[in-house]
Formats: sequence, structure tokens, C-alpha cells
Amino acid sequence: MEKQRIAILASGSGSNAEQIIRHFSGSDLAEVVWVGCNRPEPKAGVYARTRALGIETTSFNAQQLKGGSVLEMLSESNVDWVVLAGFLLKIPTEIVAHFQSRMTNIHPALLPDFGGKGMYGEHVHHAVKSAECLETGMTIHWVTPEYDKGSVIFQAACSIEQSDDVDDIAAKVTQLEHEYYARIIEALIDDASAQNSLTDG
Ligand code: GAR
Repeated sequence: MEKQRIAILASGSGSNAEQIIRHFSGSDLAEVVWVGCNRPEPKAGVYARTRALGIETTSFNAQQLKGGSVLEMLSESNVDWVVLAGFLLKIPTEIVAHFQSRMTNIHPALLPDFGGKGMYGEHVHHAVKSAECLETGMTIHWVTPEYDKGSVIFQAACSIEQSDDVDDIAAKVTQLEHEYYARIIEALIDDASAQNSLTDG
């Protein structure tokens, strides 16, 4: 199978995007070819992070996502896989259908707990702290048109100490995200390419 082309959609700081770009740089299996963000540059660190790694993040708005322009951009860039990394808008049905089994999301909690509309970033960690949970973690799942509802691909957990504040919880979860997201994407692409060579073969 040809080297797989990954697009990343982000809305914020872009630390996961950075990890993923770094992970695949020099890989024969896949490379990050396109990064898009629905917020303007002053509001999202992802632009500076990807620029430092030689990738110019493309800015788009919610209307372009809904109206099909983002799907056009992804198609023009011959994207095979779409990775959501802190992306906060709903993905339109046409994009989900186009990238069926080739589109993943990461969520900063152990879904199905603390998922759904309004549950993103810090809000999740505040909710976990208020619920006095003894553990939290992160979930990587397939994307569907509904928030955080796609089937789970991988989860990793960490414990919460009573003394942990919201920032401590966030730091533990971010560490897990950086440790696993790129590796899981790589495993998925590897599996898909093995399946492909069986059917080709
Ligand atoms: C990550 O913790 C990710 O799990 C979360 O946003 C953060 C983005 O950080 N995603 C969600 O909350 C989606 N519901 P980053 O921009 O530094 O990668």
C-alpha cells in the first residue's frame, strides 16, 4: 500500500497534533500532509506548533465544514485518514461516510463517562474532579456524526489522588494522550494495510 496520507483537525493548542506529526516524520507507513483548524490563528496554538515542524495549518470556519469545502480540501490533498486532535465541532455526515473506519477522535476521559456536547478540554476534567472519581483517562474512538459516540478503539486510565487539582488531572490525561494516540493511529494504519494486501493478493 502507498504511504498513507493523514490529515489532522484541531481547534486549540495542538499538542496532540504536534506529537502525531513528530511520530510519523520519517515513517514509511504514513505522513501528516494537512492540518486544519476552525479557529483563527490568535486563538489556537496549533498554527505555531505545526509551522515549527514545516506544516502550515489551514484555517476554515464552521460554515466551510458544513458546506463541503473542508471535504473538498481533504480530497484535493488526497487524504486517506482523518485524525481529530482536540477538534470541537461536529463532523458532518458526508465526511464521516467518506472516511468510514479511517477517522479517529481522542477524548480526555473514559467514555462513555464524561462525554457528549459541552464535554471537552478542561470542562471534562472539572466534571471528573467534581464527581470525585478515583480514576480517569483517555479514549480513542471511531468518529460518528454524534459527539463521542463511536465505538472505542483504545482506552488508558490513570488514578486520581485526593490532592490532585484540575490541572494535575489534565496533566496526567495529556501524558497518556501523547503516549498513545500516534501509536494507536499507526497500529490502525498498519492493520488496514495488512488487510489491503490480503485482499489484493
Ligand atoms: C485533548 O485533551 C483532547 O483529548 C481534547 O482536547 C485536548 C486538545 O489538546 N479533546 C476533547 O475534549 C474533544 N471532546 P491539544 O490541542 O493540546 O491536542
